[in-house]
Amino acid sequence: MVWTSSALKSAVILNNVFLAISGEQKVMCGIVGAVAQRDVAEILINGLHRLEYRGYDSAGLAVVNLQHELQRVRCLGKVKALNEAVEKSPLIGGTGIAHTRWATHGAPSEDNAHPHVSGNFAVVHNGIIENYEELRALLKSRGYVFTSQTDTEVIAHLVEWEMRSAGSLLEAVQNVVKQLTGAYGMVVMDRMHPEHLVAARSGSPLVIGLGIGENFLASDQLALLSVTRRFIFLEEGDIAEITRRSVDIYDRDGHKVEREAHDSNLENDAAEKGKHRHFMQKEIYEQPTALINTMEGRVTHNNVVVEAIGNGAKDILEKVEHIQIVACGTSYNSGMVSRYWFESVAGVSCDVEIASEFRYRKFVVRPNSLLITISQSGETADTLAALRLAKEKGYMAAMTICNVAGSSLVRESDLAFMTRAGVEIGVASTKAFTTQLVALLMLVVAVGKAKQTLSTEKEQDIVKALQALPAEIEKALAFDKHIETLAEDFAEKNHALFLGRGEFYPIAMEASLKLKEISYIHAEAYAAGELKHGPLALIDADMPVIVVAPNNELLEKIKSNIEEVRARGGQLYVFADKEAGFSEAEGMKIITMPTVNDITAPIYYTVPMQLLAYHIALIKGTDVDQPRNLAKAVTVE
Ligand code: AGP
Ligand code: GLU
Repeated sequence: MVWTSSALKSAVILNNVFLAISGEQKVMCGIVGAVAQRDVAEILINGLHRLEYRGYDSAGLAVVNLQHELQRVRCLGKVKALNEAVEKSPLIGGTGIAHTRWATHGAPSEDNAHPHVSGNFAVVHNGIIENYEELRALLKSRGYVFTSQTDTEVIAHLVEWEMRSAGSLLEAVQNVVKQLTGAYGMVVMDRMHPEHLVAARSGSPLVIGLGIGENFLASDQLALLSVTRRFIFLEEGDIAEITRRSVDIYDRDGHKVEREAHDSNLENDAAEKGKHRHFMQKEIYEQPTALINTMEGRVTHNNVVVEAIGNGAKDILEKVEHIQIVACGTSYNSGMVSRYWFESVAGVSCDVEIASEFRYRKFVVRPNSLLITISQSGETADTLAALRLAKEKGYMAAMTICNVAGSSLVRESDLAFMTRAGVEIGVASTKAFTTQLVALLMLVVAVGKAKQTLSTEKEQDIVKALQALPAEIEKALAFDKHIETLAEDFAEKNHALFLGRGEFYPIAMEASLKLKEISYIHAEAYAAGELKHGPLALIDADMPVIVVAPNNELLEKIKSNIEEVRARGGQLYVFADKEAGFSEAEGMKIITMPTVNDITAPIYYTVPMQLLAYHIALIKGTDVDQPRNLAKAVTVE
């Protein structure tokens, strides 16, 4: 996989080489490391800030000065607290490592925060060392004293032990990783030899950032965008030694290897909020551009370019008789919308399943079935496990719709159809969802064309609708103020119900997920026809009911459902277009949106739902970008 801006532009990656990644990817918090002539503490902290969105519970860094003194600062909570501590007593030194921790072994505390130190060596680690208990016992028998409850501390002591006989830090780390089972991205620093850092990757990503007379390491290129735009992505099993002027990489067998360097096309400010109050707000507003980028080169004036789905995609799509979509959360919801499209537009049967269910179920693979995973991060553990399982079970091919080039799902799938949403930082997925929907709709057209089930006129209609969408989304964003006012009605509510029919049912599901994750209001979504089979019992004046009801063939049906709610005193908020013909009445507020094409309407109506959740969360005063208990990339099962 080549990660250059041009590859990302074409955004279509065919990769028939399945990398054998041992074990399952575990947690993925933040690592930053630097070897430079200048003081690096500020670079390290800035890098940690840029990784903050992933979620973490504590942070720390260590820097070595010219006198070979190791200065370490760790604290519970935010990087801001770490920064304040460092500002009070600045750290001097050109070599350093830093970490944001998401505790797996041992509670979040200062003692458990990384870096962990043993003798002259300091270590930061992302992941889980599964055999840490036996290693801990072994190391204790060798006289090591443990100061934390983490699994990581065994790495520090193992390095110290191995250095007693090894000729170099590199050799010691090579010996250490042979003793570890589990997942790790790690960086090791030697107080007596600050001229280098040694890093190892297995199951947790690491990149090398190339500078001029200085080099860096990080768990994500985002962390380093303010110091470099040139990166080498370490592969599974790689061990790297970096100095200010050199980078040497060895594969899992110890052979020296060359890994290509790539220029990042991410904007330096990708991890900054700019004029926006929150990343989520910024990302909602970026949607028109994200959709344009996702369509670029794939939709021409009147057709969808099948070849743009991927080299070799056409052959696969011609043969496909069934589609199995597997995903989690928001990505699952986009899959659910696409099911309606695959069956009604392309005439191909489609099932959609939550990855954590799919992976543990004994399923039957239908003939010529294409597996599609959908994921913003490309690292979601359940989705990745489902892909790996499906590859053994005889699907004709595996495609991923993904937003992160170079991610595990992209590398391990036969075909990757990239969304080009740009970096999404808010835990609540917004632009990733709408770009997934656009990618899926293009894919639906491509399948219909390849199978000759779609007429040219229908294709042209869809293309027109897609092309009009970014401008329509701009218009939907103009409802921001209106929705902000509506949000006040929800401030005191504890529950909310979202209703939709057809492809608007998964839009209601997504709206309800958004509201619950960032406002902590209990929200549920129902296919409106299901109301009378149970949830109608919940309706009273304290139950706001949000309905997505544009004028389409199910309008009359959903109107009846709305009446069922009204008759029981529910508070209705109906999002519809003028043609739907609703008028305000007691207990019923109507938000009249401009009319759009039926096919793209689900994408369009997502935007007011996102704004509603955002404004309600603002009123509730929650942490919009990092809601409690959640992390951006769910790399644990
Ligand atoms: C979205 O708002 C959620 N935070 C979450 O449901 C997310 O969509 C899910 O974890 C899947 O992530 P992925 O798209 O990166 O695989
Ligand atoms: N397992 C390690 C710990 O609990 C690392 C966790 C992480 O990736 O942040 O400290």
